[in-house]
Amino acid sequence: MQTNRTFTMLKPDSVEKGHVGAILEKINAAGFRIVAMKLTQMTTADAKAFYAIHKERPFFGELVAYMTRGPIVAAILEKDNAVEDFRTLIGATNPADAAEGTIRKLYAASIGENAVHGSDSDENAAIEGAFHFSGREMF
Ligand code: RTP
Ligand code: MG
Repeated sequence: MQTNRTFTMLKPDSVEKGHVGAILEKINAAGFRIVAMKLTQMTTADAKAFYAIHKERPFFGELVAYMTRGPIVAAILEKDNAVEDFRTLIGATNPADAAEGTIRKLYAASIGENAVHGSDSDENAAIEGAFHFSGREMF
C-alpha cells in the first residue's frame, strides 16, 4: 500500500552509542521529511502497550527492559511510500540478515538490540505516531 507517513524510534542503543546523528543523516539522504521529533524515554507501561502485539513472545521481557533503559529519539517521517521505503532503509530485524548499507546492518548489535524501529503498516504508523505526539507537535 502507498503511504506517506511512518513512525520511527532510534532505540536506546543508538542514543547510548552516539549514532543518532549518523542515522538521521541516512534518513535525510533517503528523502524523508521530519514531521515530528523528540528525545523521550518510555516507561515500562508505555513499552508494554507499544509492543503489546508481542506480549506472548519469549523475548517480550527483554524487549521491554531494552526499550525503557534510556532515552530514544521518536519521530514521524513523511515520504511517498513511507512505510515500505523506511523498512527497506532499516533492513531486516536481525542485522545478520540485513542488506549492506541498511541502518541495522551498520548500527544494530543483534536481533534484540537492533538500533531502530519502523512501523509495519499505514494503520500502525498512525497509531504509533499518535502514541508519542500530540497534534501540535506535528509539522
Ligand atoms: P520493530 O517493530 O522494532 O521495527 O522491529 P521489527 O518489526 O523488525 O521486528 P518485530 O518482529 O516487530 O520485533 C520487535 C522487536 O523485538 C525485538 N526482538 N527480539 N530476541 C529476539 O528474538 C527478538 N525478536 C525481536 C527487536 O528489538 C525487534 O525489533
Ligand atoms: Mg515490528
